[in-house]
Amino acid sequence: MQSDEYLLAIDLGTTKVCAVIARVISGDDLEIIGIGTHPSEGMQNGAVVDLERTTRSIESAAQKALATAGVDYARAWIGIAAGFIQSYNSRGSVAVLQGQRGITKADIRAAMRAAVDLKIPPEMEVLHVIPRGFRVDDISGVRDPEGMVGNLLEIDVHLVCGRKNDIANIGRAAQAAGFRIEGVILQPIASSMSVLSQEEMDAGVAMVDIGGGTTDIAIYKDGHILQSRIVLVGGDLITKDLVSFLAAPVEHAETIKKNYGCAITAATDDAEVIEVQRIRPRPPHHIARSNINFVIECRVDQIIEQIRKTVLSVMSVDDLVAGVVLTGGSSLLGGLVEKVQRELGVGANLGIPGGVTGFTDIVKSPTCATAIGMLQYALKERKRVRAENGKIAQRVYKKTCDLLSRFF
Ligand SMILES: Nc1ncnc2c1ncn2[C@@H]1O[C@H](COP(=O)(O)OP(=O)(O)OP(=O)(O)O)[C@@H](O)[C@H]1O
Ligand SMILES: [Mg+2]
Repeated sequence: MQSDEYLLAIDLGTTKVCAVIARVISGDDLEIIGIGTHPSEGMQNGAVVDLERTTRSIESAAQKALATAGVDYARAWIGIAAGFIQSYNSRGSVAVLQGQRGITKADIRAAMRAAVDLKIPPEMEVLHVIPRGFRVDDISGVRDPEGMVGNLLEIDVHLVCGRKNDIANIGRAAQAAGFRIEGVILQPIASSMSVLSQEEMDAGVAMVDIGGGTTDIAIYKDGHILQSRIVLVGGDLITKDLVSFLAAPVEHAETIKKNYGCAITAATDDAEVIEVQRIRPRPPHHIARSNINFVIECRVDQIIEQIRKTVLSVMSVDDLVAGVVLTGGSSLLGGLVEKVQRELGVGANLGIPGGVTGFTDIVKSPTCATAIGMLQYALKERKRVRAENGKIAQRVYKKTCDLLSRFF
């Protein structure tokens, strides 16, 4: 079997582990041939707390995907988003030797290395180094400096780092499940690849993946990522709020959220009442739907404030010319798109993963945005490595210099 014929993505969500396998067609297109999910067990806020259970969750999701595809494959890309992730914007510079020779790839790498070295605490490991723009001498806004003549090369980068031990534990679980890790990807960067267009990234957009345990945010402008953030609030907290408010069993609170939940209380008819089951021995009771939605709306307000804060850390909300693209399971909550639109005063829409063939009826759901984006990212990364004939000076850059194909 030619191992480059396939790509396997394992998205370690806080609610579910989602594994998707694709066949790479003619080196360029992805055909989804298998998908498997398993409840995410053994992890808390994206970090491993029980190695054995995490291993089982990965193994079960991945084996289901492989069985559907009828393929035996043991290499995987792992998608993570957790409290142990930190993002920074950094700048690195390098004097260009023999100024008249023109800037080389090696100069660009040296500038990137300088940007990385400046920022990273020893307990952290670099996951992504994403170029945001270059400056050659006093000319800023340079998109690709290779071949230009200059004395000083500066690079702005977005760095995503994770605590080494937490990443190592995820690696151990994946290996124990029988997979060799081909790469690790931050979930919002992956989701962005599947739901955002280049036009949106150029115009200014916030990709917001509201999952179970986390809300992952990535802000783009002028074609570059400006900020990424993992907020430890997601749809599972909404369910928990309803469990407390209604004294209902978790499964029932989850059903109520999905079937009756709305992020805008004012949109609910005050007279509408629904029957709610409660944790036994309490009998069921009737409650106004608007009261339920008020509880939901409070938590949604908190999530929207985090989106606003993240945008404001790099630009004005008005700079989101392409608005907010919402994805992740919780983006399906009733009224959410409209609520985001109202509160932030910019356009908002659902991001449905695209750009693949195969099991599209299943994967064209916001809950699959991360796994699909991971495959697209992984394909791009494979191509980049191949284009460089695998000649990458340092291993760390092999797995980190994403989106470099745009520059190199
Ligand atoms: N129709 C729906 N309405 C409201 N919430 C929903 C709906 N469908 C799914 N959800 C919620 O989406 C969440 C799961 O989303 P998703 O599958 O994207 O999570 P995840 O990827 O495992 O988590 P994370 O990305 O936070 O690590 C759960 O909280 C679930 O209740
Ligand atoms: Mg997710």
